[in-house]
Amino acid sequence: MCGIVGYVGERDVVPLLMDGLRRLEYRGYDSAGVVAIQDGCLQTVRAEGKLDRLKEKLATHPLAGHYGLGHTRWATHGVPSERNAHPMVDARNRLALIHNGIIENFLPLKKRLIAEGWTFKSDTDTEVVANLISSYLDVSNAAGAPGTDLKTAVSRAVQELEGMYAFAVVTIEGDGQQIVAARQGPPLVIGLAEGEQFLASDPSALLIHTKDVVFLENGDIARLTPAGVEIWDKSGETVKRQVHRLTWDPIQAEKGGYKHFMLKEIHDQTQAVQDTFAGRVDFEDSRILFDTIQVSDEDLRRIERIQIVACGTSWHAGLIGKFLIENIARVPVEVDYGSEYRYRDPIVDDRMLAVGISQSGETADTLSAMEAAHERGARLFTVCNVPGSQATRISEGVIYTHAGPEIGVASTKAFSTQLVALYLLALYLRQVRTGSIDRSYLDALAHLPHAVNDVISRQESRMEALAKRYFRAENFLYLGRGINYPIALEGALKLKEISYIHAEGYPAGEMKHGPIALIDKEMPVVALATGDQVFEKVKSNLQEVKARDGVVIALTDRDPEELGGICDEIIQVPTVSPLLQPIVNVIPLQLLAYFTGVRRGADVDQPRNLAKSVTVE
Ligand code: M6R
Repeated sequence: MCGIVGYVGERDVVPLLMDGLRRLEYRGYDSAGVVAIQDGCLQTVRAEGKLDRLKEKLATHPLAGHYGLGHTRWATHGVPSERNAHPMVDARNRLALIHNGIIENFLPLKKRLIAEGWTFKSDTDTEVVANLISSYLDVSNAAGAPGTDLKTAVSRAVQELEGMYAFAVVTIEGDGQQIVAARQGPPLVIGLAEGEQFLASDPSALLIHTKDVVFLENGDIARLTPAGVEIWDKSGETVKRQVHRLTWDPIQAEKGGYKHFMLKEIHDQTQAVQDTFAGRVDFEDSRILFDTIQVSDEDLRRIERIQIVACGTSWHAGLIGKFLIENIARVPVEVDYGSEYRYRDPIVDDRMLAVGISQSGETADTLSAMEAAHERGARLFTVCNVPGSQATRISEGVIYTHAGPEIGVASTKAFSTQLVALYLLALYLRQVRTGSIDRSYLDALAHLPHAVNDVISRQESRMEALAKRYFRAENFLYLGRGINYPIALEGALKLKEISYIHAEGYPAGEMKHGPIALIDKEMPVVALATGDQVFEKVKSNLQEVKARDGVVIALTDRDPEELGGICDEIIQVPTVSPLLQPIVNVIPLQLLAYFTGVRRGADVDQPRNLAKSVTVE
C-alpha cells in the first residue's frame, strides 16, 4: 500500500531511490516518483503507471543530488495519474512529501488552507499534508524568531492530522541535508549506516545497504541526516528505539533466474517449510522449543479458548490453524477476519489467547483486531514473517515463519510456513498443557520438506499443461472438505488474484445446496480428494458434478483407479500426515493459478488493483 524510500548521504541519490522503489513496487504500482535536492533546488520527476515509466522519464529528465525521496503509489484519494503521483510539492515550492496512508480529515484541512491562500494541484490527501507543513514553516519559533525548522513544522502539523500515515518530507529551506519522517499506522523503517541513512516502508528495500534497522513506533517523528538519526516520541521527548539486526539474505529478495517472484517463491517452499521448524523441534526429547514466547506456561494452561484474526490468505491459514489446534491441543478456536472482528463487540477475557496471523505484520485490519482483543484483556500472539514488524512488536508471543522476503503479491510460501508455524503452536500448547507430545507428530514434520519438494518437481509441468487446457474458462469452482476446505478457498483466491478468472471455494458437501446450479460443461471443478476420512464423501460429490457434465479435476494421494471414470484430470500428490496434507495440497493449486495467469498475459507478480501490504482499513 504505497512504497516509501529515502536516502541522505554522499552517494548519487537517484539510482539508490530507483533500486529501493524496484524492491517496493509490490506495495503499489499506480504511479511513481522521485525528488532529489541539489544546489538548493527541489527537482521532481513523476509518472503514471509502473516504475518503468518513471525510469523512461528519468532517462530524458535526469536528476542528481545526495538526498531525496521516492514513492510508488497505490491510489486511495484521486485516480492514478501523474498529477496525483507523489512526491507532492507544496504551493510555495519549498518542500516535497511522500505519503502512505489516508488522512481522514483532509477536506476540512484543505478548506482552511484554501481560505488562507494555499493552492492545490491534485486530488490527493497528501498535498494537504505538504501545504500544512509548509504553512508551519512560516510560524515563529519558540524564541519568537520568524520561521521554524522542518521537524518542528512536522510536529505541529501531525497534531492536526486524523487517520493513518507514514510520510517523509524534504525541504530546500533550513540547515543542510535532512529528511523528516512521521509514522502513525503504516510502517516506516530506518536503515543505519556510516555517514548515510536510509528510509523505507519495508526492510526488504534496505537489505543490500545495511542490516541494522530501527522501526518507528506510532507517533514517532524522525530526522535523518548523514551523521545519524534523532527520534521523538508522540509526547515530543527524544527516544532511542531498539536497533534490530536483519537476518534475511539480500539474495532471497531477488528472482534468482525465475521469470517471476511468484514462481520462485513457490519453489522456495521446500526450504522455507524446513527453516520454519528447524531449531524449534527437539527430536530426541520430543519437545517444541520456542524462545520468543513471553507468556508463562502457567498462564498458557489457564487459556480456555483461542481467537485467530487475519485477512486474505492468512485468514485461510487461520481456518486450518483451528483444525490443528483443536485436534492437537484440544483448545476451542474461533477464526475471524481482522476487518470484522473489532466491529462485532467481541467477548474477551484474560483466559483468551488472540493470535494474529500476518505475513507482513503490517495489515491494518489484522493489527486493529489484535489490539482490540489485547485491550480487552486477551493474551496476544502473532504468527508473522517480517522481523520487527508491528504485529511482532505488540505481541507477547511471536512465532516467526522463516519464509524470507515474499515479494510476489500473491502469498505462497508465507501461507505454507504459516501452516507449519500453527502446527508448532498447536504442539507447543499441547506440551505446556499436558506435559508431552507424541513423537509421531514430529516425524510427520520431518518428512514434510521431502514431500513438498516432490510435489513441486512432479507437478510443475503438469500444472502448466492443465493451465494451457483450461485458461479460457470464465469460472472455476474449488471443492474441499474438513481441513482441506480452506485449501479450496485458497486455490480459488490464488486463481482470482493472478488470472482474474472468477473462482469460488466451497465445502464439497455444500455444493448441492446451491452452487450445483452453476455446473455445466464449461465449469472446471477442482476437488481436493486426499485420503482423510471424508474421501468417500468427496468422491460422491464429484459424481454429482460429473452427472451434470462438469469438468472434474481431482487432486488426490489415492490410487487414481479409486476415482476412475469420474475425473477428467487427476493431480497426484504424496501422502503425508492428514494434519499436514493441506501444505502439500496447496502447491499444485498455486502452480495452476500461476500458469493460468501467465497464459492469460496477466502480471502475476503485481496483479491489478492489489498491493502486498494493506496498511489502510
Ligand atoms: O501480510 P498479511 O498476511 O497480513 O496480508 C493479508 C492479505 O492481504 C494477503 O494474504 C492477501 O490476501 C494476499 N494477496 C493473498 O495472496
